Amino acid sequence: MLESRPVAQPSPKPRTLRARKFDAVPLLDLQRQYRQIRDEVLAAIERVCSSQQFILGAEVEALEREIAAFTGTTEAIACASGSDALWLALSAAGVHAGDAVLTTAFSFVASASAIVRTGARPVLVDVDPRTLNLDPTQAAVRLREGGSYKVQALLPVHLYGQCADMDGLQRLAEEFHIPLIEDAAQAIGAAWRKRPAGSLGLTAAFSFYPTKNLSAYGDAGLVTTSNAEFAERMRSLRNHGSLRRYYHEEIGANSRMDALQAAILRVKLPHVEKWNQQRREHADHYNRLLAEAGLLSRQGAAPVRLLETSSHARHVFHQYVIRAERRDELRKFLTGRKIGTEIYYPLPLHLQPCFAYLGHREGDLPESERAAREVIALPMFPELTRDEQQWVVESIAEFYS
Ligand SMILES: Cc1ncc(COP(=O)(O)O)c(C=O)c1O
Repeated sequence: MLESRPVAQPSPKPRTLRARKFDAVPLLDLQRQYRQIRDEVLAAIERVCSSQQFILGAEVEALEREIAAFTGTTEAIACASGSDALWLALSAAGVHAGDAVLTTAFSFVASASAIVRTGARPVLVDVDPRTLNLDPTQAAVRLREGGSYKVQALLPVHLYGQCADMDGLQRLAEEFHIPLIEDAAQAIGAAWRKRPAGSLGLTAAFSFYPTKNLSAYGDAGLVTTSNAEFAERMRSLRNHGSLRRYYHEEIGANSRMDALQAAILRVKLPHVEKWNQQRREHADHYNRLLAEAGLLSRQGAAPVRLLETSSHARHVFHQYVIRAERRDELRKFLTGRKIGTEIYYPLPLHLQPCFAYLGHREGDLPESERAAREVIALPMFPELTRDEQQWVVESIAEFYS
């Protein structure tokens, strides 16, 4: 069930906002976070340097235990990136050459390229225009069609920090007897019907890339599962297919997390709930400001449209994304005021040159294509201020005035 986020009723006459002017509002400002946690981070780095243990080891194991607890799972396997986490999850789920895996056409490239790394073929499916997450109805159509490639797993992405419609997708996974693997790269702390992202399928992949809600000081990733056998396989695969030094059961990769990243992530993890709550409050505030500025309700087409949040979803607003008329011109205008924006994503996966071999054409997945033309992410990070938000919205209102 979907509902719009609660927004103030638009007033008949748009209220004139009186924002304080800012020289710049960044899309993300990590320095503000660093100022809060600097002492803790430096102490954690010192702890690792004193131990001189840099790869896997006690810090990484502690992080794995803490994230397993945080995501309501029994196992966590830390690795080198979110992209590797997806590859580990798919490999452990038994996906291999000749298989097909169904995923969304509207995501970061890694969601689909991880499938290709296993030798399988991505089956790209359109999104629900309300949330821009994988549409279970379209997925069902594709699964029932059959075709020459048998789908062996479902890989939904929790885009922008909101879980995909897990009711619909879990039903499909059961009906077709295939595993569900979450791409939770953008969704640490999110939940569906109060169950944490990371615990909603067989396995889940997280990214701790520096821009993520829980972020490392470099590349890092992690897989969660409550299946001990899969966990063991992933531990082996991340370390050259080996659980015993210099004995190799299969070909794996070097995808170990380093202890410095683990120690830094351990400093940040206890803050994530609070930071995610601040992001939700900022999203509500943007919704209110956009409504009050009359941008959501004009005669004819409104220049701005909000995405929707499912009543079952606990959104963590990794990104705050709107759909905007004349999006590229708006972006240029905001850039002129040094207001940071980004387009996630300007070209859907089925039209990317690297996936040309899948044989898609423009028009095949219209909702993903429309989203790519309309979406724009606005500044979003826990330390963003109300004044900055007001300046961003006033600037948008000025563009459309
Ligand atoms: C949806 C999604 N999947 C996968 C990844 C890959 O993560 P990483 O950059 O850590 O490899 C990302 C990261 O940007 C992502 O946003």
